[in-house]
Amino acid sequence: MASDQTGRTTVGQGDITQQTTDAIVNAANESLLGGGGVDGAIHRAAGPLLLEECRTIGGCPTGQARITKGYNLSASYVIHTVGPIWRGGNRNEEALLASCYQNCLTLAEENGIQSIAFPAISTGVYGFPIEQATDIAVQEVTEFLKKAVTVHQAMFVCFSREDQFIYEKTINSYGKSR
Ligand code: APR
Repeated sequence: MASDQTGRTTVGQGDITQQTTDAIVNAANESLLGGGGVDGAIHRAAGPLLLEECRTIGGCPTGQARITKGYNLSASYVIHTVGPIWRGGNRNEEALLASCYQNCLTLAEENGIQSIAFPAISTGVYGFPIEQATDIAVQEVTEFLKKAVTVHQAMFVCFSREDQFIYEKTINSYGKSR
């Protein structure tokens, strides 16, 4: 398991639905009514009550986040965020992805969450280049944890070894460059 110098940000490979952190983050779409990828996996693992609660929320704009219970998941909460669809990089995608991480962590703080697991938001169906997305993820989470009050552990859960390698490389070089 790789981690940054503080040990508060770690990387692992696996299935985010199996994580035992207080909260796991879902890479959702604006309807919040489920989908494929990690969204589908989380809804399957959490059970139908998750969708029932999501229906009461009424959607979520790109870049923002909403919180629900975790139901059948080990995690007590699911924080749903909607990453940007990659359209070439000139449609504010980087800022929107950064705001996903910021808004998830802000919601976590507001709900007394101490540990949180993130998937690689927007890098699957939404096509965000993994290296650029990882730079944003590592920067936003590392900087937020420096000033966070309740959140003291963040884990990047990579589905593939390739992604894990990119995260580990990014975390290691991020620490050295500051
Ligand atoms: N655990 C961890 N990571 C996972 C899992 C899982 N069980 N399943 C998929 N992933 C990874 C993918 O490999 C990718 O690296 O999550 C990352 C995000 O990919 P997507 O799930 O495709 O999410 P995203 O690119 O943000 O696209 C969101 O896809 O599933 C739909 O409803 C969702 O419309 C939304 C869109």
